[in-house]
Amino acid sequence: MNFELSEEHLAVQSAARDFAQNIAKPGVIERDNAQRFPVDQIKQLGELGFMGMMVDPKYGGGGMDTISYVLAMEEISKVDASISVCMSVNNSLVCWGLETYGTEDQKQKYLVPLATGEKIGAFCLSEPEAGSDATSQRTTAIDMGDHYLLNGTKNWITNGSSASTYIVIAQTDVEKGHRGINAFIVEKGWKGFEIGAKEDKMGIRGSDTHTLLFNDVKVPKENRIGEDGFGFKFAMKTLSGGRIGIAAQALGIASGGYELALAYSKERKAFGKEIYKHQAIAFKLADMATAIETARLLVLKAAWEKDNGLNYDQTSAMAKLWASQVAMEQTVEAVQIHGGYGFVKEYHVERLMRDAKITQIYEGTSEVQKIVISRNILQA
Ligand code: CAA
Repeated sequence: MNFELSEEHLAVQSAARDFAQNIAKPGVIERDNAQRFPVDQIKQLGELGFMGMMVDPKYGGGGMDTISYVLAMEEISKVDASISVCMSVNNSLVCWGLETYGTEDQKQKYLVPLATGEKIGAFCLSEPEAGSDATSQRTTAIDMGDHYLLNGTKNWITNGSSASTYIVIAQTDVEKGHRGINAFIVEKGWKGFEIGAKEDKMGIRGSDTHTLLFNDVKVPKENRIGEDGFGFKFAMKTLSGGRIGIAAQALGIASGGYELALAYSKERKAFGKEIYKHQAIAFKLADMATAIETARLLVLKAAWEKDNGLNYDQTSAMAKLWASQVAMEQTVEAVQIHGGYGFVKEYHVERLMRDAKITQIYEGTSEVQKIVISRNILQA
């Protein structure tokens, strides 16, 4: 067993750190306040090859492995989780799904501009009544011969208005339950496709989360992904990898808070000495570092399993469950170490604490991860 990162991994980590500190950090507080999507930053992320990191270079991607992806996600999430969620959805849910299950024509037409960062993708599964219970799709796609007619509403869609390419999950045959679900590629601007209200969120406020409305949208037959009825399995398989990305995001939020708290504890003096010299703070930092390291090991293990062709359903759910809990708990500690300064925006940790919460909710709540883990261990 080798815990050392390769030269290539260290180079990706260093490029991501540079991007985070020099491109993402300036303006992060203002973007959060104004709920402004990081347009320029995402463009530069695309130029770095980070919007399609794991995609084969023949489709415009970076040809990197999942370890590289989680290292980059951690560094960027330390600074701006609104940027990293856009990156994660594009890489894990949209590019991976298209590259793994799309036809050659779909890859040429849709994957290439997504992998190069020219366009942004969105993954549309959640509905007003289908969140954790993803099989209860109300959005329908009726087979009309040469096309499907798509009707319904999707909720909480990341990259909702900034995307150009949408993967939409819909019920094509109610009688068949989850085996009557399909995934479709839908383009922005198609007749009947409307971008609805933007959510005013507690965290990841720079990310644009929208309701999407589909009213008699004609989707060409060739835009269905995979065999008829493959949509639910497509969503589950895609989300398994997506959870590695969100686990890495949670890890980054936690380690970002920890690094700020550590630095602050060396600057701030109280009762005649730097606060890290008080055992109350030193022990907090020790607990934080330990919790974060365990999350990192799980995230890297899930990524390693994926890179080595192993089944990663269970480890990705464990990584997401654990890293998101660590993010929530340790960002609260980071605020606490900062005292009153932690409660003001200038010190960044309050934003990290607000951002942490969503990692316990999207791409499956913590309860959903426990369903996945318990089913896996009980079936073993
Ligand atoms: N790979 C392949 N197939 C899978 C699978 C996987 N990982 N997981 C489940 N399946 C298959 C099952 O084998 C079963 O198929 P068969 O009947 O043919 O055997 C079928 O899918 C149904 O599976 P379940 O009976 O386990 O389904 P369920 O209704 O009990 O639900 C669940 C399981 C895990 C709770 C699932 O509904 C789920 O993951 N829910 C959460 C959805 C989610 O993560 N939403 C996030 C939206 S995207 C997002 O958040 C993006 C963003 O903005 C950042």
